[in-house]
Amino acid sequence: MMNKGIDREIDWRLRVFESLSYPTIILLPDRTIIAVNGRYLEKMGVEEEEIIGRSCREVNLRNYPEQKFPCAEQGECPLARAVHTRSGQSVLLKYHDVYGGEGWEERVFSPILGADGEVDFIIESIRDVTRVKNLEKMYSGVRELIDQVVQTSVSGIIAADRQGRIILMNRAAEELFGYSGYDIDNVNIEDYYPPGVAREIMRKLRSEEIGEKGKLPITRVTIRRKDGAEVPAEMTAVIIYEDGREAATAGIFNDLRDKLEVERQLKEAHAQLIQSEKLASLGRLAAGVAHEINNPLTGILLYASMMREKLEKDHPLEQNLRYIIEDTQRCQEIVKNLLAYSRQSNPTRQYFQLNEALGESLRLVRDQKLFLHVKVVEDAPAAPVLVNADKNQLCQVVINLIINAVDAMDGNGTLTLRTYEDRPNRKAILEVSDTGGGIPAENMSKIFDPFFSTKEVGKGTGLGLSMAYGIMEENHGRIYVKDTSPEGTTFALELPLVPMSDVILFDSIG
Ligand SMILES: Nc1ncnc2c1ncn2[C@@H]1O[C@H](COP(=O)(O)OP(=O)(O)OP(=O)(O)O)[C@@H](O)[C@H]1O
Ligand SMILES: [Mg+2]
Repeated sequence: MMNKGIDREIDWRLRVFESLSYPTIILLPDRTIIAVNGRYLEKMGVEEEEIIGRSCREVNLRNYPEQKFPCAEQGECPLARAVHTRSGQSVLLKYHDVYGGEGWEERVFSPILGADGEVDFIIESIRDVTRVKNLEKMYSGVRELIDQVVQTSVSGIIAADRQGRIILMNRAAEELFGYSGYDIDNVNIEDYYPPGVAREIMRKLRSEEIGEKGKLPITRVTIRRKDGAEVPAEMTAVIIYEDGREAATAGIFNDLRDKLEVERQLKEAHAQLIQSEKLASLGRLAAGVAHEINNPLTGILLYASMMREKLEKDHPLEQNLRYIIEDTQRCQEIVKNLLAYSRQSNPTRQYFQLNEALGESLRLVRDQKLFLHVKVVEDAPAAPVLVNADKNQLCQVVINLIINAVDAMDGNGTLTLRTYEDRPNRKAILEVSDTGGGIPAENMSKIFDPFFSTKEVGKGTGLGLSMAYGIMEENHGRIYVKDTSPEGTTFALELPLVPMSDVILFDSIG
């Protein structure tokens, strides 16, 4: 299929040319086609005579009428470029086959130089790269999809190379760790954890101690944000291997702060439920006992008083009767407190400033000897904090807290009394803090129980806090230990805050 006049000596070359599996033509620098192989004729569906002696431009335009060849535009002809640069050139073309399908071909132009260094011929061969192109397209589509999945994941995803340099960080990870894409070059994966943690994770990943080698099942970790804050998180990680060697590591992180907070609240609510159930049943028992005891006590007191009145002065039994009366009164006091705890008395509500209750309570106890070396700090806001509760009952509670606080300090330390508004939660708060020794953890669940006391016999009945608990519930408030440690304890009383709009009502009443 060669042009006539070609020397026989180069016949083997022609055969090589003919057997090339790519459609190929040979051209002169002026674009005249001088040879064509069978593959080319097959692909284009033409005869040799239709091609030889014509210019490639003519042939191309005829065979690909809808195709916009680069040579149609000035200066873009790859053949001219190959001639000019004396080096191979290639061009990628999109075509439509006879069935309307789309394909891609790569045309490679290789110049053949003569002895003078000038280009004598150009070999143009066509390679169909449709399959490669389609694969490429599919791959980039999949890649895009993966990118999107990674970027929009609610879990933080981070990948780092062997040196710990960050090679991928999605938006959730940026948020969780507080870094932005700009920081990527300046951080190392070790900066994402408190010291030593990254190494420990790598050690576990490489060992088989927990699960498969190279994989870390869901694990609780502490991560470190850019601002230094340490945050609890849950993570899984993998080592990415390439040819059996570690190439990178990837980790998926979930912020545990919300989850842990919910868990904590649940636990607290549960503990509170148990506590109030326990107190409710104890309350019923106490109420029953108190009620039963109250009547005989009244009798004892009445008869003892009557007897005492009838005794002559300085009668030897007079002193004994006085003891009976005093102890009976003490019993009555206990019964009264028990009834308060078990909510057998009805509160008489009034509007008042929380500070007033504080001031009045303090006045009632301050003179006691115990206060001698106690420094009292009052911390109240300028604006009044209004509540609607039984003031006398509240004073009783405050007095109990103050006495407990002073007891805890053994009469030596600082007593801080604080009132304030918790506007967002619409609460009025009164806090009593001391610098005493604190409440041991094992006692925390018992301090509100009736008769729980660590004080020596005769000093405490263990009714103060249980009574306070009952009173606060009765007044739609609550009492709790806000803080306790060997440095001191803070008890808080919480009552519904009276909105400012009720002040008018308050004014008209009080
Ligand atoms: N501020 C405090 N610091 C340390 N421990 C405290 C404090 N307040 C209460 N407690 C502990 O809680 C226990 C129960 O207190 P509660 O007021 O109910 O009874 P009490 O003070 O022992 O006796 P009562 O109040 O009946 O005289 C106390 O015995 C003490 O162990
Ligand atoms: Mg007490």
